[in-house]
Formats: sequence, structure tokens, C-alpha cells
Amino acid sequence: MKRIFSGVQPSGNLHLGNYLGAIRNFVTLQQDNDCIYCVVDQHAITLWQDPAELRQRTREVTAGYLAAGIDPKTSIIFNQSQVAAHAQLAWVFNCVARIGWLNRMTQFKDKAGKNREKASSGLYVYPNLMAADILVYKGTHVPVGENQKQHLELTRDIAQKFNNDFGVEFFPIVEPLIQGTATRVMSLRDGSKKMSSSDASDASRINMTDDADAVAKKVRRATSDSELLPDPSVVGADGQFAEDFRQARPEAANLLTIFAALTNRDLAAVVGDFEGKGFADFKKEMTEVAVGTMGQIGAEMKRMVDDPAFVDSVLRDGAERARALADPILAEVYDIVGFLRP
Ligand code: TRP
Repeated sequence: MKRIFSGVQPSGNLHLGNYLGAIRNFVTLQQDNDCIYCVVDQHAITLWQDPAELRQRTREVTAGYLAAGIDPKTSIIFNQSQVAAHAQLAWVFNCVARIGWLNRMTQFKDKAGKNREKASSGLYVYPNLMAADILVYKGTHVPVGENQKQHLELTRDIAQKFNNDFGVEFFPIVEPLIQGTATRVMSLRDGSKKMSSSDASDASRINMTDDADAVAKKVRRATSDSELLPDPSVVGADGQFAEDFRQARPEAANLLTIFAALTNRDLAAVVGDFEGKGFADFKKEMTEVAVGTMGQIGAEMKRMVDDPAFVDSVLRDGAERARALADPILAEVYDIVGFLRP
């Protein structure tokens, strides 16, 4: 059995991109794997977070996991800071990973921006904590998006170096899980930009907390173009839109891609259905589909966010089960490293 670990940061609104790109896959993976899903609050504070908002968002991501269909009885759902072993193993990894490795991380460069001297040291060692998240459970497979692949490579390097340095076969070498058809979800206002929680326009994204009315309105108002919908020849052998079509008609490509993802259908088949139709017809159907899926999830999330005691009890239970797995592994690491224990 594979042991799956993944995490989502409670640092922004969850939106359709998080759902289609990550959380929905977490739900599917539960069927034949041992799954651990974390709300990585310790990663979130590598950039400043308002404490009240951090609490709220930690509950929101938890509610998002639950509303999307992650079962807290079969999978483990918890927040990182409740399981001390993550930070404890991360310290050991701070001493295993080389500075040269961290210097190559492109996400640090992006997030630190021009003012690298002012970035938190947490942001710099963030990938070591991520490696600890996974390896403290001896996780074997990690569903991640494109932007996390480099961090996963580093996780493999850390596991290998630890095993070599101490002459053990202790940590597994994790494999990334590439998700079915990687769904690139773009902004509803500008099909050439990624959908993002930091976009100033709320109309650019469908938030996982949006209710049916908000979802319907955003689909109706999504930017389109003045041409009719294309025929399936613009879909390549890989099941994705050809790059030249994406470039020429980014909004059409985005909306059709989202429709196919939400209905779990082949892109070519969906494009075939709408061939030669106008956006008005398409949007009518898309509204129905989006309300049926995302509106449903939004309503469920709202119900849970309004009941923080319930959400907190799920996290408490998950943390207890996570600690039961992580603590013995950390204890072995401490022995291997040469720490005296009580
Ligand atoms: N770094 C990931 C992100 O920003 C979140 C994350 C933290 C994670 N720890 C992880 C993802 C472990 C997978 C496995 O999206």
C-alpha cells in the first residue's frame, strides 16, 4: 500500500484551481491508499499571517478537505503545528540539507523577491520542513503540482543523504504523483493568467466557499471571445488543447478545460459537444455544472466553518492519529543520529 502525504497552506482563499489541481485528487487517492492530508500552518507563517486570519483559514482548508469528500475516518486530516514531530525532524534536516541545495530553489527566489535580505529564515528552510512533513510518516507518494516538483526532488536528496550519512536504509525515496490530466485553471477574467487567491478581482476566481449565486454570476460574467466554439481538431493527442489554440483563444480554452474537468470527461468529447455553438449556450450548461459541484461544496464548507467546534474536533482527532504514526519514526531518527532519550 502506498502512503500518501500532501499538504495545503492556509494562506489564501481556496479556489477552483486548488480544487481541480489538488484537493479533488486527494479524494480519489483515498480509495486504495493510506492517506495523510495536512493543513500546513507552519509553512504559512514563512510569510506574515494575521493570527485571527490564520486560525480562520486553517479551519477553512479543513472544511474544504471535508466538503470535497475526504473522509476523516479513513484518511488523516490535521494541522501541522499540532504534531511537534514535523518541526523536530525539520531541525535534523536543516543539518542534513546543504545550503547550496536551498540556494537552487526557484520558489524561494520568487517568494523572497528583490529584497532577499528581508525574507524570513523560515522561508529559506521551508523545503526542509516540507521534506520532514513527508518523511516523518515515511510517506512514499506525494501528489503535487508542477510548482512543487523541485521541493520533492530535494526531499529525495535529503532522504538519500540521511541514509548515506548514517549508513542506514531508513527513509524511502518518495515519488511524485502526477495527477491525471494536469488541470491548469486560469483566471476567469484573463485566460492568460493563473487563477490565484491573490488576484485583486474576486470575479477572477471561483472560491471554494462561493455559494450557488456567486458561482453562477462568475460563470456568466467570465470573459469570453466573439467567435463560435471550436471543433475537436484543436485538442492534441495528449488530450489537451494545442498551444497555438491556447494562445489564440485563452478564455475559450480555459472555460472548456474547466468544464471537462468538472464533468470528468475527455476534453475532445466536450469540445465536440459544443462545436460551432456560441458562448451563451455553453455558459448556460457550464453554470449548471459549476453550481452543481462548486456551489454544493461552498454550501457544505459554509456549514462547517459556522461550526468551528466540529472542525476543531476533526483536527484534534487527526493530530492524535498522526502523532501515533510520527512519534515512533522520530524516535528512531533520534537513535540513529545519536540523541540520548529518556
Ligand atoms: N509546499 C506546498 C505548497 O505550497 C505545501 C506543502 C507543505 C506540501 N508540505 C507538503 C505539499 C508536503 C506536499 C507534501 O503547495
